Amino acid sequence: MRVVILNSPDDVAEYAADLFTRQLTRKPGSVLGLATGSTPLKLYEKLIERTARGELSFRRASTFNLDEYLGLDGTHPQSYRYFMNRALFDHIDIESGRTYVPNAVSADPRKAAEDYEQSIREAGGVDLQLLGIGVNGHIGFNEPYSSLGSRTRIKTLTARTIADNARFFADGEFQPNLSLTMGIGTILEARQIVLLATGRAKAPAVKDTVEGPVTAKCPSSALQLHPAVTVLLDAAAASALEEPAFFQHIEELDQALSTSISDAAS
Ligand code: PGA
Repeated sequence: MRVVILNSPDDVAEYAADLFTRQLTRKPGSVLGLATGSTPLKLYEKLIERTARGELSFRRASTFNLDEYLGLDGTHPQSYRYFMNRALFDHIDIESGRTYVPNAVSADPRKAAEDYEQSIREAGGVDLQLLGIGVNGHIGFNEPYSSLGSRTRIKTLTARTIADNARFFADGEFQPNLSLTMGIGTILEARQIVLLATGRAKAPAVKDTVEGPVTAKCPSSALQLHPAVTVLLDAAAASALEEPAFFQHIEELDQALSTSISDAAS
């Protein structure tokens, strides 16, 4: 795991925007895995700005979102489809037909889950998967005790997640307790993964993710099994790590190495 500790949430978003820019420059037809929540919003703002400035294009890209609330269609303001349209898709040059979110209003959600896996395969697999993290270590809606080999499926949300997300729903408004989410096995098949975490509330989950053990109790700890994960943290989210200085040291060495390689090449 590459663990990068940055000063502020804005630095985290900037670093992540650089990773997405590099990915799309190298492969304009990239398949991107995207996430909802408050954490990626700054990143999405930066991607919109860079697209407006002509530094970035999604024209040939496809996107697959991690999850959707079961029973909410894309016109529902709390649906993740609606969120993604507002936060990103409506403001960049992506073809809307290539933005995928699990079909949570299908009469047969199990078939919809299989179809989602099939669509990811047909697109060639996810090149770069973005993740947030829940305070309980969930990734997508893979709550604690999800199988580490799970695929896209219906998943029950924990009381903690429902409480955390209640802030987005009006008093008395229906809040789903089921979702359709990519599985942990699905996520681990992405070629590259970037997880963003900011704020002190995420510090214990970040510690469990990075320092282990690998356990279904903390679903994000499964990322330790993946060969290309970057964990981008602000100082608050990194505050419970036992070895922050070690990760900072590795990052400095890595920066020095990249500079000397590019100096040697020029
Ligand atoms: P948040 O959600 O970015 O709103 O904290 C993250 C998540 O639950 O995955």
